Amino acid sequence: MALLQTENLSYVYGEGTPFCVTALDKVNIEIEKGEIVAVIGQTGSGKSTLMQLLNGLLKPNSGRVLLDGEDIRSSKAKKLETRFRVGLCFQYPEYQLFENTVYEDIAFGPKNMELSEGEVDKRVRDAAKYVGIPDSAFKTHPFDLSGGEKRRVAIAGVISMEPEILILDEPTSGLDPKGREQILSLIKNYRDRTGKTVIVVSHSMNDVAKIASRVIVMYQSKVLMTGTVDEVFEHSEKLREIGLAVPQITEVFSKLHAKGIPVSEKVYTTEQAFLEIKRVLRGGGANA
Ligand SMILES: Nc1ncnc2c1ncn2[C@@H]1O[C@H](COP(=O)(O)OP(=O)(O)O)[C@@H](O)[C@H]1O
Ligand SMILES: [Mg+2]
Repeated sequence: MALLQTENLSYVYGEGTPFCVTALDKVNIEIEKGEIVAVIGQTGSGKSTLMQLLNGLLKPNSGRVLLDGEDIRSSKAKKLETRFRVGLCFQYPEYQLFENTVYEDIAFGPKNMELSEGEVDKRVRDAAKYVGIPDSAFKTHPFDLSGGEKRRVAIAGVISMEPEILILDEPTSGLDPKGREQILSLIKNYRDRTGKTVIVVSHSMNDVAKIASRVIVMYQSKVLMTGTVDEVFEHSEKLREIGLAVPQITEVFSKLHAKGIPVSEKVYTTEQAFLEIKRVLRGGGANA
């Protein structure tokens, strides 16, 4: 049984009005414990809507979300349990920092979980450390932080609830390359250190290649394909058609491969490219 699963999940905004939009149409996905799943797709394909359904923030028009095989809306207790077990960090979460200090913002979630004061404090300190926010910034007003720092405080606010499933909606968008790297490595680190499950929404194929163990591709409110990074990136033509390019480095290697140079086509990151070039220069033949 999958940890988190959807069954024919559909969602319509403004149902019954002339402006209704079908944002999700009979979506079936399965998330296993310990995976880092990337959800990719063009703007408007339904990613954010799906994420808000996964933690019960939105109510499906039809279909179900199952956590440990049980409908997350089956009872009040299950709904509450889901909010705490499935932590969602929204797209542009920095707009939702509303407390007067960094500390209070990170503490907001754990406080709602009715934990002891000591436990809340420990959670805040651990989460802040995790995302690289020093204790000396605790009294700072969130508005006085840089964009990257705000994003990290917002993520700490979700991590401090220690969710079993951490969902991050476009966590790197709008950040500079350094900020992106920091966020990506902290996500990977979270997964590696805790063994918890992570779902990351992204439209950067570079980001996806760096961290995901599996990819779900959304297109026009439906799941178009799902598979490992290798399996999904093999469909580079199809991906391009729906406005998702494979990483540039992958394009380069696939062109080199087509020219008869014995490099693998399955190169998705600069680290892999480096190793592959080293291997070929040492006289290794193609291994893919
Ligand atoms: N609050 C809303 N009211 C009406 N339509 C919405 C709302 N939020 C999203 N939509 C529409 O639902 C569809 C899916 O949106 P969304 O889930 O935000 O996609 P994505 O995250 O992939 O960009 C889009 O057509 C979008 O315009
Ligand atoms: Mg979105």
